[in-house]
Amino acid sequence: MTLKTKLLIAGAVMALAMPFSALAQPVAKGVWLGNTDGAAKTPPMGWNSWNAFRTEVDEAKVMGAAQALVDDGLAKKGYTYVNLDDGWWLKRRLTDGRMIIRTQIFPSASTTDGNTSFRGFTDRLHGMGLKAGLYTDVGHNACSQAYDLHSPNLPEGTAEERQVGLDGHVSQDINLYFKEWGFDYLKVDACGLADFAPDSKLVKDNGYIGLTPEIDRASLNRTDSARVEQRYAAVAAALKQANPDNDYVFSMCNWGMANVREWGKDVGSSWRTSSDITPNWSSMLHNYDSAVKRALYAGPGHWNDPDILFIGAGDFDADHLTEARTHFTLWAMMNAPLLISYDLRKAPQSLLDIWGNSDLIAVNQDPAGNQAIVAYDSDDAQILVKTMADGHKVVALFNRTASPAKVNLLASHLKLKGDAPIQLTDLWSKAGSTFTGETEVELAPHETRVFSVQGARELGDGVYLSEIPGAINVADDGVREPQLDPTVHRMIDPWAGTHSGGSRPQYAGWGGAQADMTPYAQALQIADHTYDSGIGVLGNSLLQVKNDGYATFRATVGMDDSTPNRDRAVTFAVYADGKLVAKTPPLKFGDAARDIAADIAGHKIIELLATDDSAANEQPVVVTWGLARLQK
Ligand code: GLA
Repeated sequence: MTLKTKLLIAGAVMALAMPFSALAQPVAKGVWLGNTDGAAKTPPMGWNSWNAFRTEVDEAKVMGAAQALVDDGLAKKGYTYVNLDDGWWLKRRLTDGRMIIRTQIFPSASTTDGNTSFRGFTDRLHGMGLKAGLYTDVGHNACSQAYDLHSPNLPEGTAEERQVGLDGHVSQDINLYFKEWGFDYLKVDACGLADFAPDSKLVKDNGYIGLTPEIDRASLNRTDSARVEQRYAAVAAALKQANPDNDYVFSMCNWGMANVREWGKDVGSSWRTSSDITPNWSSMLHNYDSAVKRALYAGPGHWNDPDILFIGAGDFDADHLTEARTHFTLWAMMNAPLLISYDLRKAPQSLLDIWGNSDLIAVNQDPAGNQAIVAYDSDDAQILVKTMADGHKVVALFNRTASPAKVNLLASHLKLKGDAPIQLTDLWSKAGSTFTGETEVELAPHETRVFSVQGARELGDGVYLSEIPGAINVADDGVREPQLDPTVHRMIDPWAGTHSGGSRPQYAGWGGAQADMTPYAQALQIADHTYDSGIGVLGNSLLQVKNDGYATFRATVGMDDSTPNRDRAVTFAVYADGKLVAKTPPLKFGDAARDIAADIAGHKIIELLATDDSAANEQPVVVTWGLARLQK
């Protein structure tokens, strides 16, 4: 159980003891709660076998990719993880529970004692300056055992021998994979918790041992999110124990379900925010949407993962370089893991140039870890702005449509002064240009233009919190019951076609904390005054902010005009390293915004608490930390 879960349970117990059903109110902690364990200070980069080979993977293909990463110079640019996905296993040996490798496709894993070992494989990768990643499942069985039944490389043997997932073997498997075999990265899938219902046709036809689903792919309400979190937390604990040097990455793969978009950051290095990407424009939009408005939930050590890249196939192949560049640019801006999944032994230069764009890699790998914020939002075009560690901006102008689009880029989108020149450098063509105030950019169908930006900051002596999401941890977003996110593009389901209900995604997260907008995607507004900068969040929330040497925190706060609950009052409080440093009186709907200022000099963790007196069965209160900023 994570520290946060423990605190929430403690809060819930207190709430039960109270006479009214008032909500448990968060309290300042004075310690950072987001996950920082593991080696993912910046988003992981490398190669993954899945989109390239599915279960038809083998040693020659993986080593070929590894060699190409080195030979093509991609490894030097940061693509170091070589991740073997589903398909590597033969069975679990029942005498001692040890996992046995399919040596037919991984010949070097064969040992004279029959134990099989990946040690030689990982040694070779390490010898090439690379790192090694492996795949497993958090349940009994893995995804290929449900979805790749035609595969020649499915686990073999009795039902028990075919239980290749971690369930019941967490420490044993993780010790084997990390201590004995020397892996550095583990992807942990979740089909074992979703697809093997005891009475299902799949289980009956294939003689599996069933497991009552803890993830219901079609229903968030029927998913046991707390149980799923607990299972992943147990894996995290075992990984930490097996890796005292902290050199490991924990990639969680439960496809945005079980409310992972809220708790993933407390548990692992990255978490999938959606279903599997397919090489279609529509699927790319879907996966992008699932992560792009979750900036406040990611940061150094913990990243939103909209899935491995599909550059090189379908709508993103060498005949669709505009789309391929867009896919890469968006993933770079979102601080997504950059995992190439293509047969690199035969990659054309045009694709190598995309994965190898050093400027965009630097955007993705910036140490501040600020995921881009959506500065302009529509179904047609979006403007993403990312603040780099040295304070300069990168902006991406994204045309979602199949028609040309005109986009006005304003200084205010960039939080730069409108009366001073702004210099743009195109990160694909490297061409430079200058504008003052605003400029119009024409985008080809599906095109994304991306620029590095230099200009005079609106806030000369500090930063708005919405510019530094990587320094923020949403310790509690105040969401009462996880709600489905309605903002994700709905594609024709690549698996079920129009037989499905129109891919109604079961991704919770609606109502979560947002940069420069309310939790329900409205403009920030208090008593009829709008704020371009600020944090929107629900009442009974706790935001943590890392203070990197600033002296003052300031904001203009109040209940947001869009709040569904207009009957209650909210109190804003600021804590510095656990000590109260500023507080407002209770503020109601319609009350004028209040300025709040706090001396935070020398303090490391600033906590922003918004508490209200609403009952659990009421609508939440929406609050705005307008112009929330750190200043010198
Ligand atoms: C799931 C995952 C994919 C891949 C396959 C392997 O679908 O989401 O990324 O790992 O399983 O079977």
